[in-house]
Amino acid sequence: MSLANKIQKDFLPKHLAIIMDGNGRWAKLKGRLRVFGHESGTKSVKQTVETCAELGIQYLTLYAFSTENWNRPKLEVDALMRLLVSSLKKELKLLLKNNIKLQAIGNLDTLPKKAKKELFEVMEKTKDNTRMTLTLALSYGSREEIKNAVKEICHKVKNNIILLESIDESIINQHLYTQNLPDVDLLIRTSGEHRISNFLLWQIAYAELYFTNVLWPDFSKEHLYEALINYQNRERRFGKTSEQIN
Ligand code: IPE
Ligand code: IPE
Ligand code: MG
Repeated sequence: MSLANKIQKDFLPKHLAIIMDGNGRWAKLKGRLRVFGHESGTKSVKQTVETCAELGIQYLTLYAFSTENWNRPKLEVDALMRLLVSSLKKELKLLLKNNIKLQAIGNLDTLPKKAKKELFEVMEKTKDNTRMTLTLALSYGSREEIKNAVKEICHKVKNNIILLESIDESIINQHLYTQNLPDVDLLIRTSGEHRISNFLLWQIAYAELYFTNVLWPDFSKEHLYEALINYQNRERRFGKTSEQIN
């Protein structure tokens, strides 16, 4: 049986998030510049997006650039921002054809003007698409997101817009960038690193974590299938006992 046939279509993660890591090391292994790794990584992005839509995953969130990534050499940051613009231009057709809605989370005001403009254009053009929501985490940091939410909630309490007593998890959710997304079911990180790197800390509270040594530019359809099959063989207990689940 092929890997694809082993996937149970009615038991997919509703929300899949991926930390796409290892572009730089992939390029280095080939004796090329890091930027070449990032360029090659865009092919994996495209294939992953298409495959998730085909399978029927409703929400896909990709970590593309962290708040910490601004500290990389300017040359690399500039190249990543240029790559963002060219990918958005190139893949608009794919998003429209596949009925995919694009949205972004993060401190988008810090993006270069050109990137922001292209991003908002693609978001506007795909906003009514319904098959899958693709969320790009750009200039994203989970601690910053939580800090902003806390500030906003405090401001509302101070101005009697919400009562202190009414603050619950749902109110916190509503003040995060991810307010329209369900909790993450499965988080994949490539490249063999076993850390979260400031990604969706609140939203992964009960996610299944999957780490693979594959470097992002090598991450293929089959690797995604393997991760999904692995996920489907787990028992998500949410604090209960196995007997209660069965
Ligand atoms: C992930 O690959 C892409 C971004 C963080 C933008 P890296 O660039 O982190 O690749 P490594 O981890 O150095 O190999
Ligand atoms: C995390 O990868 C950010 C993205 C994948 C966009 P990094 O490569 O920046 O993470 P660290 O610094 O190794 O933890
Ligand atoms: Mg990395």
